[in-house]
Amino acid sequence: MPAATRLFAIFLALWLWRPTSAWADRYDDEARRLVQRLTLEEKVGQMTQISVTLVSKEGDTTGRHALDPDKLREALLTYHVGSIMNEGQGAYSLAHWREIITEIQDVATRETRLKIPVLYGIDAIHGATFTEGATLFPQPIALAATWNLDLARQDGAITAREVRASGIPWDFYPVLDVGRQPLWPRFWETFGEDTFLVTEFGKNYIEGLQGGSYGFPGQVAACLKHYVGYSFPFNGFDRTPAFMSERTLRQVFLPPFAAGVRAGVSTVMANSSELDGIPGHANRHLLTDVLKGELGFKGFVVSDFKDVKRLYSRDQVADSPEAAVALAVNAGVDMSMVPNDFSFYRLLLRGVRDKKVSVARIDDAVRRILAVKLRMGLFAPGGAYPAPGLDREFASPAHEAANLKTAQESIILLKNEQHLLPLAKTGIKVLVTGPTANLLSALNGGWTITWQGDNEARYPKDKPTVLAAIKAKLGASNVLFAPGADFDRTLDLQATVKLAKKADYVVVCLGEKAYCETWGNITDLDLEPAQIQLAQAMIKTGKPVILVLLEGRPRVIAPLVDQSQAILLGFLPGMEGGRAIAEVLFGEVNPSAKLPCTYPKAPNGFVTYDHKPLEEWDLNRYDPQFPFGFGLSYTTFAYRDLHLATDKLRPGKNQTVSVRVKNTGDRPGQEVVQLYLQDEFGSVSRPVRELKGFRKLALRPGEERELTFTLTPHDLSFIGVDDRRIVEPGVFKVMVGPLAKEFTLQ
Ligand code: BGC
Repeated sequence: MPAATRLFAIFLALWLWRPTSAWADRYDDEARRLVQRLTLEEKVGQMTQISVTLVSKEGDTTGRHALDPDKLREALLTYHVGSIMNEGQGAYSLAHWREIITEIQDVATRETRLKIPVLYGIDAIHGATFTEGATLFPQPIALAATWNLDLARQDGAITAREVRASGIPWDFYPVLDVGRQPLWPRFWETFGEDTFLVTEFGKNYIEGLQGGSYGFPGQVAACLKHYVGYSFPFNGFDRTPAFMSERTLRQVFLPPFAAGVRAGVSTVMANSSELDGIPGHANRHLLTDVLKGELGFKGFVVSDFKDVKRLYSRDQVADSPEAAVALAVNAGVDMSMVPNDFSFYRLLLRGVRDKKVSVARIDDAVRRILAVKLRMGLFAPGGAYPAPGLDREFASPAHEAANLKTAQESIILLKNEQHLLPLAKTGIKVLVTGPTANLLSALNGGWTITWQGDNEARYPKDKPTVLAAIKAKLGASNVLFAPGADFDRTLDLQATVKLAKKADYVVVCLGEKAYCETWGNITDLDLEPAQIQLAQAMIKTGKPVILVLLEGRPRVIAPLVDQSQAILLGFLPGMEGGRAIAEVLFGEVNPSAKLPCTYPKAPNGFVTYDHKPLEEWDLNRYDPQFPFGFGLSYTTFAYRDLHLATDKLRPGKNQTVSVRVKNTGDRPGQEVVQLYLQDEFGSVSRPVRELKGFRKLALRPGEERELTFTLTPHDLSFIGVDDRRIVEPGVFKVMVGPLAKEFTLQ
């Protein structure tokens, strides 16, 4: 590398990875002073997170959660436990949550020696997952399909208020893993396959959850997870090894976490799996050197569920439970989600006494934990308790309207042959069929009311499925229904074919049942044969077929694409998803969503949009069913006048790009203007294109607007041969819509 480039690389690296000053605030000092007053036992207790089931009465089948006062006191007074995580029977009412949290904090803030409040953490993934009647938004992959960052901030902020309404100040979310392995059952928990898109959604969601200056009430501490590399399992199963170089890690998977740290995120959860043979919880390089050192993360690292123990019991990188605890804490884990016993407390105490873990490391971990408790306002008068007033706006009509808007913008129109859609609302008869047609769980997926999200009986009665929403538009007498198939077997196909013959259109709702984590493991991305068979039987009737896909990952539908007239992809659009789909079908909403991932045509079609030239070379192809960023509208848009401020850019300067976009159709619509960049030559092979900017724009028919984007030196950079971020001079190509222009970086 020439000396000038190297110098510039160092300058850029320093600027990009500067630590966040936001965290160097008074809470750190206050926490430091508090640490000095704690005994070793109290410190180790603060680092211990147990499950709420460990302090509960057994055999609770009443739907109410009965804490066991004796067990609670044992945990908080004998073991000095600092944090409790949610686990159990699923959602409770808001009022009941307020009772549970109050009971816990009564003991913590009145009976413990230093009156330190408990930090209760919960998975609120697309809204307050575990509170009955909560506003449950489109899941992350569907939120990303909106390409609307205002909605990410809005959904985050509403989620925070509904979670905090129950007195819970800590949300184990967002997932900033980049979803580049579509088999992975947690694909839908991500914001898609692109580093830039995930980064932008992550930053905005964190801002929504934590607020700009955050504290309380109405805000929660966010938790970036799962740091880092979890989302790229080689075999596609959850919690299985990923293999990647430091360069790929830094190029693709680390930037969203770095941005989350810069956005002031308060906690990070470690990768439950392993990277290049090092389990996430034993990776000192990534947890301490990179996260806390290089990225300047000042919050605390929590383990994932049981994962400290698993360094011994599963991964066998520690030869005893005690060695596992020391390994994790020395690697940089500050709090262990133990969570079903007090072993961590005992073993860590022993580890400190045996000099396997230093008191300095313990003090560092506890300071980080207490600083978060202070920042969340838990020590303020009443701050540990459910805030008065927040309960009144829980699941309010305003929250419901915000949810509906997100759902409307999340439905992707993938195909619309001869403008079949939108359908007329009168004078037609429709057959609705398929396994996802009449299930709210298929609209919501995992982390909904229960962990797996599949308990249909517990779903709200007032939210429409796709079937119910179509009936509401057309009138029940104009809608025929037969399930036609379950997820993996056909059900009375002949009768369904007969019904189809009576209809003008057939809406075939396919996809996946709700699942979470390893329960969603699959070995084949092809949609189940029974569902393909049902759709093919419907196609054979000669009636126009509209496919509606509700699924957590892009299941292969190649045998159906050519013969279906229209295809809508909802992923998991949440509680208002049924309504939103019907509104798109009947043209009340003009679809504006775009794919946040590549939709493969074959079960091994794992080429991402930002592939290398090699992947297009010779007989290799990026040949997806639908490409990243794709999605149709009921109107059309035209692009012109792509303009660059300079065609010779000086190092360290920004490039300005402008373009004009016009609605050339006859109805109002929103276009997602996407800016891609190609670095044409590099010392490391560069992707054929990379997303570097996007903006969602509403235009009336005939309306034209000019948009301006700024490309910074960071946008031109990449991870070089020596694993550090650099910028190399040369030619760059800017692509927006069908237009392209080049400039030279001098
Ligand atoms: C998941 C985490 C989650 C944790 C607590 C684990 O199984 O991997 O994402 O936050 O459980 O529920």
